[in-house]
Amino acid sequence: MAELYREMDFELDPLFETIISDLMTQDYSIVDHFIDPKTVSLLRHSLLAHFEEDRFKKAAIGSKTNEVIAAAIRGDYILWIDERIQTHVENLFFKRLNDLVAYLNRTCFLGILQTEFHYALYPPGTGYKRHLDSFQNDHKRKLSIAFYLNPEDWTETDGGALALYIKGAGEEQTVLVPPVGGRMVIFESQKIPHEVLKANRDRLSITGWLKTS
Ligand code: OGA
Ligand code: MN
Repeated sequence: MAELYREMDFELDPLFETIISDLMTQDYSIVDHFIDPKTVSLLRHSLLAHFEEDRFKKAAIGSKTNEVIAAAIRGDYILWIDERIQTHVENLFFKRLNDLVAYLNRTCFLGILQTEFHYALYPPGTGYKRHLDSFQNDHKRKLSIAFYLNPEDWTETDGGALALYIKGAGEEQTVLVPPVGGRMVIFESQKIPHEVLKANRDRLSITGWLKTS
């Protein structure tokens, strides 16, 4: 029944299908070239321009946490992206993202009603210790997304990998994802503990959540 609906109603998108089957089998998916390199480079320059304008804020981890402790847990600077006031290039990002969200809702009945995204810049030597994205009692976060804006010459020695801690049948496995520009990681917010390892150079991304309300 569901298959019939899918065939009749819209075109299959191979990349989106890969994401869906990965999510169903392993709760995460890693895809490269989610957006073309030219747009990634424009988004990178847009992030850096906002940063130069001093619009970023030190990311927090909860209202009652002492700032010194917070900085040891999480070292990034963020700028929330207002969906209503976007530049042309940010629009390209949201267009692609909203296509994915519509596809997920149609094929998996996920019921994503809301999204929230911010730019993030981790200065050299900073990271984000192991955590789940359901803190602050925000259980509406269904899927977490990190989309990397680093140049494509990012190498393993630059560090900054996202470590996903996967609980299988046996021991916990660590999946390391270098933050290469154009790469998107999407995973179940409530299920996969993860950590941002320290980088040796500025680590740039757009990070956000697909929420059920
Ligand atoms: C976060 C996070 C992952 C990444 O911001 O909560 O886990 O790779 N980011 O930037
Ligand atoms: Mn996280």
